[in-house]
Amino acid sequence: MLNKSFAITILALALALALDASFPSDSPAQPETCPLGVISCSTRSAGVDSCCSPTYGLLVLTQQWHTELGPSDEFTLHGLWPDTCSGQQTGNSGCDSSRLYTNITEIVKPDNGNNNNPLLFQDMNTYWSSYTGNNNKFWSHEWNKHGTCVTTLNPRCYGSSYIKYKDVRDYFSTALRLRNKYNLYEALSDKGIEPSEDTKYTAAEFKSAIKEGLGIEVAVKCKSGALSEIWAWFNVRDTIVYVPSKDALVSDSCPSTFIYPPKDNAE
Ligand SMILES: *[C@@H]1O[C@H](CO)[C@@H](O)[C@H](O)[C@H]1NC(C)=O
Repeated sequence: MLNKSFAITILALALALALDASFPSDSPAQPETCPLGVISCSTRSAGVDSCCSPTYGLLVLTQQWHTELGPSDEFTLHGLWPDTCSGQQTGNSGCDSSRLYTNITEIVKPDNGNNNNPLLFQDMNTYWSSYTGNNNKFWSHEWNKHGTCVTTLNPRCYGSSYIKYKDVRDYFSTALRLRNKYNLYEALSDKGIEPSEDTKYTAAEFKSAIKEGLGIEVAVKCKSGALSEIWAWFNVRDTIVYVPSKDALVSDSCPSTFIYPPKDNAE
């Protein structure tokens, strides 16, 4: 009997650990009072507390392909932008003037005493760098304009478990987690779409490779005849689960064929 209950305890522990691993310790908590199974922008989300379901419930994950940024086999982040349910942007000044910061670098650094995510700063430097070289300015802009509009990250939503800047760190770690989950480079490479100086690709080839590999509809963006960004849209279920939305909300903006250039640091 002892053995059996011991085995059950171990099983329960393993399960708890496995579940925990899929929600890193810095994930925002779903407030206990939230109704279950509500998807943002659905009929059921109307009237639900904005801590449970984000008011700006259609979020755009924008990944960039910039030859001077990031590892040669990874897209990097531009941002995670909450839009209104009809796809309107929330505006330049953000959504909460009491949480505008100009020192995001200090806030996400591992030696900040409140920070329980030691890898956040390193990951942001690797996967969310700015082509201007000023990451602090880039990150502060993304937080101020977009992060403050994620209503589920309002400090009040954490209740007594709130520690200063947890909202900020949760915003950045959520976007990093999505970038990692929706790994565009891998999905493209699996279908033989690799960076090249001279191969010409079409947006349709990109979209179908990403649809097959990751199950998301994307919009493909170019600058000067080369791939620059790929956008994907999500709704949110149960506060923190990002569910791909059915349609791409904007059209592609690429010439009929374009290049996917190798990064400068590629071997
Ligand atoms: C960020 O800047 C604000 C305003 O200047 C300051 O009060 C706060 O202590 C800074 N935070 C960190 C973590 O350095």
